[in-house]
Amino acid sequence: MSQQPNVLLLGPPGAGKGTQSANIADEYDVPHVTTGDALRANKDMQTEHGTPRSFMEAGELVPDPVVNEIVAEALGDGEGYVLDGYPRNEEQVAYLADITTLDVVCLLSVSESELVDRLTGRRVCTECGANYHVEFDQPDEEGVCDECGGELIQRDDDTEDTVRERLRVYHETTEPVVEHYREAGVLQEIDGEQSPSAVWDTLRATIDETI
Ligand code: AP5
Ligand code: MG
Ligand code: ZN
Repeated sequence: MSQQPNVLLLGPPGAGKGTQSANIADEYDVPHVTTGDALRANKDMQTEHGTPRSFMEAGELVPDPVVNEIVAEALGDGEGYVLDGYPRNEEQVAYLADITTLDVVCLLSVSESELVDRLTGRRVCTECGANYHVEFDQPDEEGVCDECGGELIQRDDDTEDTVRERLRVYHETTEPVVEHYREAGVLQEIDGEQSPSAVWDTLRATIDETI
């Protein structure tokens, strides 16, 4: 199989998908395709379904036609990528199956109380999108990105109420997606509660064994 695998990273909000996707993108030299970042960069884009902002700030899913188009365009010829934040419902699973073939499907598992702590303490670089945490992953200088010097801010949807709604939507709509891949026999579950570097060691070993 190719050295540039098609990797799908699943997990609830705050599981570490963005953090670990950056490692996968570096290690395997593949693009990081993430609907969340793409939507945040186009929050006020006018579509026939309204703008992404209203859905995202409420913690609800953005309508399928909008995200499907983002993914189809971003995957391009589908020669190696790490996909994060998609698919989130069964319609998106079917759409994805039509446009690409996955080589590795991993789930990062983290308990609910840990997720809330991670999300409400997250800080994100406005320039390069790197993730930090006020307790678990501090930058060298408070409020400044180690990678690029950009400003670190809190995401609009990382308030406690919106976090709870995102977790509710995950349980209701995205857990069936996880079950879909489990039933297909391709899901590899990874303990996402380890340290970021231990999660990465496990994830890399899992990908290397699969490709
Ligand atoms: P999206 O941006 O995808 O958000 P999400 O799925 O809720 O996931 P997060 O980005 O919040 O978490 P993550 O798993 O990436 O964790 P991270 O690495 O940052 O989506 C946002 C919104 O966009 C959705 O609500 C929806 O409205 C819309 N949307 C997106 N995709 C869509 C789709 N397909 N269909 C419809 N709508 C869509 O880590 C979290 C924190 O924990 C960080 O602070 C990090 O430093 C820390 N951390 C990471 N790993 C560890 C560790 N091992 N130990 C301790 N701390 C850690
Ligand atoms: Mg993310
Ligand atoms: Zn940065």
